[in-house]
Amino acid sequence: MTAQTIKNFSRTDVDMPDGNPSQRVGKRLPAEGEDGVFSQSWFPICMSSEVEKGQVRGERFLDGKVIVFRGDDGVARVMSAYCPHVGADLSIGAVVGNHVQCAFHKWEYGGDGACVKTAIGDPAPTKARLFKFPTKEQYGVVWAFNGETPDFDIPSFELPDEKLAIRVFRFPELLNCDPWVFAANTPDMQHFKVVHKTEFATEDPHDSVTWDDYGFRYKVIAAHQQGVPIEWTVGIRGTSVFWQEGPYGDFWIGGMVGFGLPTPGKHELFAILALEKGDGSAEFEAQLEENFGVAEMLMNRTIGEDIDILNTIKYCPGTLTAGDRTLGKFLQFLRRFPRAHPSGAFIK
Ligand code: FES
Ligand SMILES: [Fe+2]
Repeated sequence: MTAQTIKNFSRTDVDMPDGNPSQRVGKRLPAEGEDGVFSQSWFPICMSSEVEKGQVRGERFLDGKVIVFRGDDGVARVMSAYCPHVGADLSIGAVVGNHVQCAFHKWEYGGDGACVKTAIGDPAPTKARLFKFPTKEQYGVVWAFNGETPDFDIPSFELPDEKLAIRVFRFPELLNCDPWVFAANTPDMQHFKVVHKTEFATEDPHDSVTWDDYGFRYKVIAAHQQGVPIEWTVGIRGTSVFWQEGPYGDFWIGGMVGFGLPTPGKHELFAILALEKGDGSAEFEAQLEENFGVAEMLMNRTIGEDIDILNTIKYCPGTLTAGDRTLGKFLQFLRRFPRAHPSGAFIK
Protein backbone atom coordinates (compact mmCIF):
# COMPACT_ATOMS: atom_id res chain seq x y z
CA MET A 1 0.00 0.00 0.00
CA THR A 2 1.43 3.38 -0.94
CA ALA A 3 1.56 6.40 1.31
CA GLN A 4 -1.02 8.03 -0.96
CA THR A 5 -3.59 5.25 -0.51
CA ILE A 6 -3.06 5.25 3.24
CA LYS A 7 -3.65 8.99 3.34
CA ASN A 8 -6.87 8.73 1.37
CA PHE A 9 -8.26 5.78 3.31
CA SER A 10 -11.29 6.60 5.41
CA ARG A 11 -13.94 4.66 7.29
CA THR A 12 -16.35 5.11 4.38
CA ASP A 13 -14.00 3.01 2.21
CA VAL A 14 -14.63 -0.14 4.24
CA ASP A 15 -16.42 -2.73 2.12
CA MET A 16 -19.78 -3.82 3.41
CA PRO A 17 -21.58 -6.88 2.05
CA ASP A 18 -24.78 -4.92 1.38
CA GLY A 19 -22.91 -2.19 -0.40
CA ASN A 20 -23.43 0.40 2.32
CA PRO A 21 -20.39 2.22 3.60
CA SER A 22 -19.41 1.62 7.19
CA GLN A 23 -19.33 4.91 9.00
CA ARG A 24 -20.30 6.62 12.20
CA VAL A 25 -23.89 7.24 11.32
CA GLY A 26 -24.94 9.01 14.51
CA LYS A 27 -24.61 12.60 15.52
CA ARG A 28 -22.06 13.17 18.25
CA LEU A 29 -23.23 14.53 21.59
CA PRO A 30 -22.35 18.01 22.84
CA ALA A 31 -19.19 17.97 24.92
CA GLU A 32 -18.98 19.72 28.28
CA GLY A 33 -17.72 23.24 27.66
CA GLU A 34 -18.73 23.18 23.98
CA ASP A 35 -20.01 26.63 22.97
CA GLY A 36 -18.93 27.79 26.44
CA VAL A 37 -21.69 25.98 28.37
CA PHE A 38 -21.88 23.02 30.78
CA SER A 39 -24.68 20.72 32.02
CA GLN A 40 -26.88 22.27 34.66
CA SER A 41 -26.30 19.42 37.07
CA TRP A 42 -24.96 18.69 40.57
CA PHE A 43 -21.23 18.01 40.66
CA PRO A 44 -19.11 16.82 43.60
CA ILE A 45 -16.43 19.36 44.53
CA CYS A 46 -14.62 17.79 47.50
CA MET A 47 -15.21 15.46 50.41
CA SER A 48 -16.72 17.04 53.55
CA SER A 49 -13.71 15.81 55.51
CA GLU A 50 -11.40 17.90 53.31
CA VAL A 51 -12.82 21.22 54.52
CA GLU A 52 -13.09 21.59 58.25
CA LYS A 53 -14.49 24.57 60.16
CA GLY A 54 -12.30 27.62 59.54
CA GLN A 55 -10.71 26.18 56.37
CA VAL A 56 -10.75 27.25 52.74
CA ARG A 57 -9.50 25.17 49.81
CA GLY A 58 -9.32 25.55 46.04
CA GLU A 59 -10.70 23.10 43.46
CA ARG A 60 -10.79 23.08 39.66
CA PHE A 61 -14.38 23.17 38.39
CA LEU A 62 -15.83 23.50 34.87
CA ASP A 63 -13.29 25.66 33.05
CA GLY A 64 -11.98 27.54 36.07
CA LYS A 65 -11.42 27.47 39.80
CA VAL A 66 -13.65 27.63 42.87
CA ILE A 67 -13.14 27.80 46.60
CA VAL A 68 -14.88 25.75 49.25
CA PHE A 69 -14.89 27.22 52.73
CA ARG A 70 -16.57 26.37 56.01
CA GLY A 71 -17.32 29.14 58.49
CA ASP A 72 -18.05 29.07 62.21
CA ASP A 73 -21.65 28.12 61.40
CA GLY A 74 -20.37 24.81 59.98
CA VAL A 75 -21.88 25.48 56.55
CA ALA A 76 -19.76 24.61 53.50
CA ARG A 77 -19.99 27.13 50.65
CA VAL A 78 -18.69 26.93 47.09
CA MET A 79 -17.83 30.23 45.39
CA SER A 80 -15.68 31.55 42.55
CA ALA A 81 -12.00 31.62 43.48
CA TYR A 82 -10.79 34.98 42.20
CA CYS A 83 -11.13 38.15 44.24
CA PRO A 84 -13.02 40.83 42.30
CA HIS A 85 -10.64 43.53 43.60
CA VAL A 86 -7.59 42.69 41.48
CA GLY A 87 -7.88 38.91 41.15
CA ALA A 88 -5.99 37.26 44.02
CA ASP A 89 -6.78 33.58 44.52
CA LEU A 90 -8.99 33.28 47.59
CA SER A 91 -7.95 29.68 48.20
CA ILE A 92 -4.82 31.07 49.87
CA GLY A 93 -6.99 33.41 51.97
CA ALA A 94 -8.48 32.80 55.40
CA VAL A 95 -11.86 32.15 56.96
CA VAL A 96 -12.96 34.84 59.43
CA GLY A 97 -16.20 33.96 61.20
CA ASN A 98 -18.48 33.07 58.30
CA HIS A 99 -16.56 35.21 55.80
CA VAL A 100 -13.70 34.39 53.48
CA GLN A 101 -10.90 36.95 53.55
CA CYS A 102 -8.57 37.66 50.62
CA ALA A 103 -4.85 37.20 51.32
CA PHE A 104 -3.90 40.33 49.35
CA HIS A 105 -5.75 43.46 50.63
CA LYS A 106 -7.87 41.57 53.18
CA TRP A 107 -11.31 42.27 51.69
CA GLU A 108 -13.96 39.98 53.13
CA TYR A 109 -16.85 38.20 51.41
CA GLY A 110 -19.97 36.95 53.17
CA GLY A 111 -22.13 33.88 52.77
CA ASP A 112 -23.96 35.29 49.73
CA GLY A 113 -20.69 36.18 47.97
CA ALA A 114 -20.96 39.96 48.46
CA CYS A 115 -17.97 41.98 49.65
CA VAL A 116 -18.79 43.14 53.17
CA LYS A 117 -15.59 44.82 54.27
CA THR A 118 -12.27 46.27 53.11
CA ALA A 119 -9.25 46.38 55.40
CA ILE A 120 -8.46 50.08 54.99
CA GLY A 121 -12.02 51.29 55.59
CA ASP A 122 -13.02 52.17 51.99
CA PRO A 123 -16.67 51.20 51.60
CA ALA A 124 -17.14 47.74 50.09
CA PRO A 125 -17.99 48.27 46.40
CA THR A 126 -21.48 46.96 45.72
CA LYS A 127 -20.35 45.32 42.49
CA ALA A 128 -17.59 43.36 44.25
CA ARG A 129 -19.05 39.90 44.67
CA LEU A 130 -18.13 36.29 44.17
CA PHE A 131 -20.31 33.84 42.27
CA LYS A 132 -22.04 31.68 44.86
CA PHE A 133 -22.89 28.20 43.61
CA PRO A 134 -25.94 26.47 45.08
CA THR A 135 -24.14 24.16 47.51
CA LYS A 136 -25.28 21.03 49.32
CA GLU A 137 -23.53 18.65 51.63
CA GLN A 138 -24.85 15.13 51.36
CA TYR A 139 -23.37 11.74 52.29
CA GLY A 140 -19.96 13.22 53.11
CA VAL A 141 -19.55 15.14 49.86
CA VAL A 142 -19.76 18.87 49.10
CA TRP A 143 -21.76 19.30 45.89
CA ALA A 144 -22.23 22.39 43.73
CA PHE A 145 -24.92 22.98 41.13
CA ASN A 146 -23.86 24.52 37.84
CA GLY A 147 -26.61 27.13 37.64
CA GLU A 148 -28.26 29.95 39.55
CA THR A 149 -30.80 27.68 41.28
CA PRO A 150 -30.97 23.87 41.31
CA ASP A 151 -33.53 22.31 39.02
CA PHE A 152 -33.56 18.99 40.90
CA ASP A 153 -32.21 17.29 44.03
CA ILE A 154 -29.29 14.98 44.61
CA PRO A 155 -30.85 11.53 45.15
CA SER A 156 -31.41 10.19 48.66
CA PHE A 157 -31.22 6.56 49.68
CA GLU A 158 -34.43 4.85 50.77
CA LEU A 159 -33.03 4.42 54.30
CA PRO A 160 -32.91 7.54 56.49
CA ASP A 161 -29.48 9.05 57.24
CA GLU A 162 -29.51 7.94 60.90
CA LYS A 163 -29.68 4.31 59.83
CA LEU A 164 -26.70 4.56 57.47
CA ALA A 165 -22.98 3.99 57.89
CA ILE A 166 -21.29 5.97 55.11
CA ARG A 167 -17.82 5.80 53.55
CA VAL A 168 -16.61 8.18 50.87
CA PHE A 169 -13.80 7.63 48.37
CA ARG A 170 -12.24 10.30 46.17
CA PHE A 171 -10.38 8.57 43.36
CA PRO A 172 -6.93 10.04 42.73
CA GLU A 173 -6.89 9.66 38.92
CA LEU A 174 -9.01 11.74 36.57
CA LEU A 175 -10.93 9.79 33.93
CA ASN A 176 -10.39 10.75 30.34
CA CYS A 177 -13.98 11.61 29.32
CA ASP A 178 -16.84 13.89 30.31
CA PRO A 179 -19.04 12.82 33.26
CA TRP A 180 -22.06 12.03 31.04
CA VAL A 181 -20.04 9.31 29.29
CA PHE A 182 -19.86 7.33 32.52
CA ALA A 183 -23.50 8.21 33.26
CA ALA A 184 -24.41 6.63 29.90
CA ASN A 185 -23.28 3.24 31.26
CA THR A 186 -26.36 2.99 33.49
CA PRO A 187 -28.96 2.91 30.69
CA ASP A 188 -26.61 0.69 28.66
CA MET A 189 -28.09 -2.73 29.44
CA GLN A 190 -25.83 -4.50 26.93
CA HIS A 191 -22.85 -3.36 28.96
CA PHE A 192 -24.29 -4.70 32.24
CA LYS A 193 -24.45 -8.15 30.67
CA VAL A 194 -21.21 -8.12 28.74
CA VAL A 195 -18.83 -5.98 30.77
CA HIS A 196 -20.13 -6.73 34.27
CA LYS A 197 -21.43 -10.24 33.56
CA THR A 198 -24.84 -9.57 35.10
CA GLU A 199 -27.53 -12.09 34.20
CA PHE A 200 -30.95 -10.47 34.26
CA ALA A 201 -33.60 -12.72 35.81
CA THR A 202 -36.25 -10.99 33.71
CA GLU A 203 -36.56 -9.61 30.19
CA ASP A 204 -34.37 -6.54 29.80
CA PRO A 205 -36.29 -4.01 31.91
CA HIS A 206 -36.63 -1.29 29.22
CA ASP A 207 -40.37 -1.01 29.81
CA SER A 208 -40.08 -0.45 33.54
CA VAL A 209 -37.67 2.50 33.33
CA THR A 210 -39.19 5.56 35.02
CA TRP A 211 -38.18 8.90 33.51
CA ASP A 212 -38.60 12.50 34.52
CA ASP A 213 -37.05 15.69 33.16
CA TYR A 214 -33.83 15.18 35.14
CA GLY A 215 -33.11 11.49 35.01
CA PHE A 216 -34.41 7.96 35.22
CA ARG A 217 -34.45 4.85 37.40
CA TYR A 218 -35.20 1.18 36.96
CA LYS A 219 -34.97 -2.09 38.81
CA VAL A 220 -32.35 -4.73 38.08
CA ILE A 221 -33.31 -8.21 39.29
CA ALA A 222 -30.39 -10.38 38.36
CA ALA A 223 -27.62 -12.72 39.30
CA HIS A 224 -24.38 -10.79 39.69
CA GLN A 225 -20.96 -12.37 39.28
CA GLN A 226 -20.56 -15.66 41.15
CA GLY A 227 -24.37 -15.91 41.04
CA VAL A 228 -24.98 -13.43 43.87
CA PRO A 229 -28.66 -12.37 43.65
CA ILE A 230 -29.25 -8.63 43.40
CA GLU A 231 -32.39 -6.56 43.37
CA TRP A 232 -31.18 -3.04 42.79
CA THR A 233 -32.80 0.18 41.85
CA VAL A 234 -30.30 2.03 39.67
CA GLY A 235 -30.58 5.53 38.27
CA ILE A 236 -29.01 8.72 37.03
CA ARG A 237 -29.82 12.28 38.13
CA GLY A 238 -28.80 15.03 35.76
CA THR A 239 -25.66 14.16 33.81
CA SER A 240 -23.39 13.53 36.76
CA VAL A 241 -24.90 11.49 39.60
CA PHE A 242 -25.31 7.70 39.58
CA TRP A 243 -26.96 5.84 42.40
CA GLN A 244 -28.06 2.32 43.21
CA GLU A 245 -29.59 0.62 46.22
CA GLY A 246 -30.97 -2.73 47.23
CA PRO A 247 -29.90 -6.17 48.39
CA TYR A 248 -26.66 -7.81 47.33
CA GLY A 249 -27.02 -11.38 48.54
CA ASP A 250 -28.06 -11.07 52.17
CA PHE A 251 -27.30 -7.40 52.86
CA TRP A 252 -28.42 -4.01 51.61
CA ILE A 253 -25.98 -1.75 49.76
CA GLY A 254 -26.43 1.86 48.79
CA GLY A 255 -23.93 3.22 46.31
CA MET A 256 -23.64 6.64 44.75
CA VAL A 257 -21.01 8.03 42.40
CA GLY A 258 -20.74 11.74 41.71
CA PHE A 259 -18.82 12.54 38.56
CA GLY A 260 -16.84 15.73 39.25
CA LEU A 261 -15.99 18.04 36.36
CA PRO A 262 -12.60 19.64 37.06
CA THR A 263 -11.98 20.50 33.41
CA PRO A 264 -13.73 19.78 30.08
CA GLY A 265 -13.12 16.29 28.76
CA LYS A 266 -12.23 14.78 32.16
CA HIS A 267 -14.05 13.66 35.25
CA GLU A 268 -13.28 12.71 38.80
CA LEU A 269 -15.01 9.96 40.77
CA PHE A 270 -16.45 10.55 44.22
CA ALA A 271 -17.88 7.23 45.38
CA ILE A 272 -20.19 6.86 48.37
CA LEU A 273 -20.95 3.52 49.98
CA ALA A 274 -23.82 3.27 52.45
CA LEU A 275 -24.67 0.24 54.58
CA GLU A 276 -27.15 -0.35 57.37
CA LYS A 277 -25.67 0.79 60.62
CA GLY A 278 -27.30 -1.77 62.92
CA ASP A 279 -27.39 -1.70 66.71
CA GLY A 280 -23.73 -0.87 67.36
CA SER A 281 -23.03 -4.22 69.04
CA ALA A 282 -19.53 -5.69 68.61
CA GLU A 283 -20.98 -8.54 66.61
CA PHE A 284 -22.81 -6.21 64.24
CA GLU A 285 -19.75 -3.95 63.91
CA ALA A 286 -17.66 -6.92 62.78
CA GLN A 287 -20.35 -7.84 60.25
CA LEU A 288 -20.51 -4.24 59.06
CA GLU A 289 -16.76 -4.18 58.51
CA GLU A 290 -16.96 -7.38 56.52
CA ASN A 291 -19.84 -6.02 54.43
CA PHE A 292 -17.91 -2.82 53.72
CA GLY A 293 -15.08 -5.02 52.49
CA VAL A 294 -17.46 -6.72 50.05
CA ALA A 295 -19.01 -3.41 48.96
CA GLU A 296 -15.58 -1.87 48.33
CA MET A 297 -14.50 -4.91 46.35
CA LEU A 298 -17.68 -4.62 44.26
CA MET A 299 -17.17 -0.91 43.65
CA ASN A 300 -13.50 -1.31 42.68
CA ARG A 301 -14.19 -4.34 40.50
CA THR A 302 -17.05 -2.61 38.67
CA ILE A 303 -15.07 0.59 38.06
CA GLY A 304 -12.04 -1.52 37.12
CA GLU A 305 -14.11 -3.29 34.45
CA ASP A 306 -15.22 0.05 32.98
CA ILE A 307 -12.10 2.14 33.26
CA ASP A 308 -10.01 1.30 30.18
CA ILE A 309 -13.11 1.70 28.02
CA LEU A 310 -13.96 5.08 29.55
CA ASN A 311 -10.39 6.33 29.24
CA THR A 312 -10.18 5.64 25.51
CA ILE A 313 -13.71 5.95 24.13
CA LYS A 314 -14.72 8.66 21.63
CA TYR A 315 -18.41 8.44 22.42
CA CYS A 316 -20.58 8.72 19.35
CA PRO A 317 -23.77 6.69 18.90
CA GLY A 318 -23.86 4.80 15.62
CA THR A 319 -25.65 1.54 15.00
CA LEU A 320 -27.73 1.02 18.14
CA THR A 321 -29.83 -2.15 18.39
CA ALA A 322 -33.04 -3.21 20.17
CA GLY A 323 -31.01 -3.93 23.31
CA ASP A 324 -30.01 -0.25 23.36
CA ARG A 325 -33.54 1.14 23.67
CA THR A 326 -32.98 2.81 27.03
CA LEU A 327 -29.49 3.95 26.09
CA GLY A 328 -30.89 5.59 22.95
CA LYS A 329 -33.46 7.42 25.04
CA PHE A 330 -30.78 8.61 27.45
CA LEU A 331 -28.70 9.95 24.57
CA GLN A 332 -31.74 11.96 23.46
CA PHE A 333 -32.11 13.15 27.07
CA LEU A 334 -28.47 14.29 27.01
CA ARG A 335 -28.96 16.20 23.77
CA ARG A 336 -31.86 18.14 25.31
CA PHE A 337 -30.29 18.59 28.74
CA PRO A 338 -30.10 22.26 29.80
CA ARG A 339 -26.65 23.81 29.64
CA ALA A 340 -25.39 27.15 30.91
CA HIS A 341 -22.37 28.81 32.45
CA PRO A 342 -23.50 31.57 34.81
CA SER A 343 -20.19 31.51 36.72
CA GLY A 344 -18.15 31.85 33.51
CA ALA A 345 -17.18 35.47 34.09
CA PHE A 346 -16.08 34.73 37.68
CA ILE A 347 -14.12 31.49 37.83
CA LYS A 348 -11.39 32.12 35.24
S1 FES B 1 -7.07 41.26 45.43
FE1 FES B 1 -8.36 40.60 46.99
S2 FES B 1 -8.50 42.26 48.33
FE2 FES B 1 -7.22 42.95 46.73
FE1 LIG C 1 -20.15 -0.10 33.95
